[in-house]
Amino acid sequence: MRIVLLGAPGAGKGTQARLLATHFMIPNVGTGHMFRAAASADTELGREVNKFIREGALVPDDIVVRIVKERLSHADVSSGFVLDGFPRTVLQANELDEALEEKGRKLDVVISIEIKESELIERLSHRRTCRHCGTVYNTLFEKQRPKEEGVCDRCGGELVQRNDENPEVIKERLRIFNENNEPLEKYYSKKGLLKKVGASNYLTPQHVFADVLAALAK
Ligand code: AP5
Repeated sequence: MRIVLLGAPGAGKGTQARLLATHFMIPNVGTGHMFRAAASADTELGREVNKFIREGALVPDDIVVRIVKERLSHADVSSGFVLDGFPRTVLQANELDEALEEKGRKLDVVISIEIKESELIERLSHRRTCRHCGTVYNTLFEKQRPKEEGVCDRCGGELVQRNDENPEVIKERLRIFNENNEPLEKYYSKKGLLKKVGASNYLTPQHVFADVLAALAK
């Protein structure tokens, strides 16, 4: 399975990517996560991308394409992967196709997770992420809260809001998403790869996942 997940900031791409990766036993390749890990380790890449992320801007295509191509050259992705957060532009989509073609591979499916803007703003303002291991929580929903407020269940790390989660930056991320998503969906729709899954009306992550699996089975 080679799967791409599309969706607005907060749509639940990361959540569904983790569920898919576990279900199909394939690596979860998330560009936002890779950048945040590089930033917290204070690597050269981290310093390079941090200012774009903080402002809600896209990281320049050449940087993203380089790190994704490098990641997709690892042996563990030979039997499949879930891509979360990449591609975000048609240029990135073309680059991905070319990189896969070089290896005689192609995408199997592109799932677009669709959600009302009001719901995702609410979700994003309640998301908490472990500074240490990246586990994601949401204080809005009982089942997604940590056992102890502010502390990661998994590793005991501190739970924080991401530096791209303030209202102004969220607005900018949404603006950029709305600008780029339609051409990207058209690109994949023409190739017959696009499937849409609705995630609004407070469906739980497990309900959305059931719909994602149903879409994959079609
Ligand atoms: P990235 O980390 O990819 O951010 P994003 O796309 O804006 O998405 P989010 O991580 O905010 O949300 P998500 O859809 O994963 O939702 P989640 O599952 O956490 O990228 C960050 C930045 O990196 C970008 O702004 C850009 O600067 C840069 N970047 C990354 N990729 C790039 C690229 N290809 N090109 C250029 N720049 C790039 O869910 C949200 C919350 O809701 C969580 O709290 C979760 O627990 C909860 N939740 C999820 N599903 C449900 C549900 N069904 N019901 C209730 N709660 C739910």
